[in-house]
Amino acid sequence: AWQIAVAALFGYLLGSIPFGLVLTRAFGLGDIRKIGSGNIGATNVLRTGNKPVALATLLLDSGKGAAAALIAAQWSPSLGVIAGAAALLGHLYPVWLGFKGGKGVATTLGTLLAVNWMVGVGACLTWLVVALLFRISSLSALVAVALSILYAWYLGTPAEMAFTLLATALVWLRHHENIRRLLKGEEPRIGKKKKSA
Ligand code: G3P
Repeated sequence: AWQIAVAALFGYLLGSIPFGLVLTRAFGLGDIRKIGSGNIGATNVLRTGNKPVALATLLLDSGKGAAAALIAAQWSPSLGVIAGAAALLGHLYPVWLGFKGGKGVATTLGTLLAVNWMVGVGACLTWLVVALLFRISSLSALVAVALSILYAWYLGTPAEMAFTLLATALVWLRHHENIRRLLKGEEPRIGKKKKSA
């Protein structure tokens, strides 16, 4: 029981590091929350025009989910899933930013890769295929997380399946503005600038 609390707290703290915000500040790219969609994720960092910093944001935001899950999994696989879920919550609701964090796509994918690489690769490939077809980051994310439920159903444990259900609910919830834009046909393509949200 105390391990669950430690794994959750550790995952939350790691997940709550807003790498997109930290890196864009460090590289003098302005306040990312006032650019594009206002989100702190890699997709929006790309709208600053700085590809290396966007890539670093993607790797670090996914890496923190993976690291939380891999480290806690040394205790037990389910503690790994719990720490990954806590990292996702930390990214979405970081105490440091008044609980206003990112949209959870990179952190979900990183956690999935760490807890079950087949489910993780399936979700990443799904993101890529949808991105190549439509070039819209949010659409790729919405499809990829939703289909990860199916992948976990076939290839994962009940705990991993529960994680994909939670992650899908949270990621879709955090994308409500994107979903509205998608339905209106106004969601910008990857790399294109978009008006402030
Ligand atoms: O990773 C978040 C992505 O799915 C959408 O980001 O900035 O276009 O709202 P954004």
